[in-house]
Amino acid sequence: PLYKSMFGLSELEEKLRKAFGLSRVIIVQGDSETSIQTKRELGRAACQVLRGALKPKDVVAVTGGTTIAQVANQLTTTTAMKDIWFVPARGGLGESLDYQANTLASTMAKRTGGHYRLLHVPDHLGEEAFASLMQEPNIREIVDVIRSARVVVHGIGDAMIMARRRKLDSEVVAEIEAEGALAEAFGFYFDRSGAVVHQMQTVGLRLEDIVNTELVIGVAGGKNKGEAIAAVMRFGHNDVLVTDEAAALEMAGLL
Ligand code: F6P
Repeated sequence: PLYKSMFGLSELEEKLRKAFGLSRVIIVQGDSETSIQTKRELGRAACQVLRGALKPKDVVAVTGGTTIAQVANQLTTTTAMKDIWFVPARGGLGESLDYQANTLASTMAKRTGGHYRLLHVPDHLGEEAFASLMQEPNIREIVDVIRSARVVVHGIGDAMIMARRRKLDSEVVAEIEAEGALAEAFGFYFDRSGAVVHQMQTVGLRLEDIVNTELVIGVAGGKNKGEAIAAVMRFGHNDVLVTDEAAALEMAGLL
């Protein structure tokens, strides 16, 4: 194990839980950036949290990414979640198909016997296209379902890595960097203190929806993501963080 102090992982969990005002922190051993086994464990731990939290008629909004894919691909239930809805948290954010929120929401529903709704809206919408799309009854309806989510399960990324992964224009990337963006989650870019410095114009969860969501579960690990995860925790609207030892040690070093 990486953690060689006299304290165990549960002490570290408690330390981070208190520091970020969370209701629960779960740390799995290892570094998910270098070990696929750890990444799988991260997903498995998040599945446990999610299973324990779900209630009938819940709407669960999920984001994309390789970490949440580990959650989706391992989610199981003993009883079918017939009346639970899985939806993408936002429109397309430039991820490849396997890691898109739509794909992960449908995988979760299929694996648990629940329902899903998809949001087929592209990335990088201009003001006009955005406004007219939001007037489409079909889009409006699913967006209202998304915004009513009681549970949000989301990944966290490094701002610059995500800006590049989404192929943002170099000007926008430079702008985001100049604004001090360090982290990205649900299409928002955060600086070190957890302030939102930039957001993408996509359909789906707004900042106020996240603030009002009953249960926000962040799932992210890896040594290099420690700072980014801490920034999103400082934003202050997470309830649960599922992370790994390597990221947790980085975060503890920032306190
Ligand atoms: O693009 C979806 C997303 O959840 C981002 O909000 C987040 O920054 C990223 O994916 C995390 O991706 P990964 O788990 O692959 O590092």
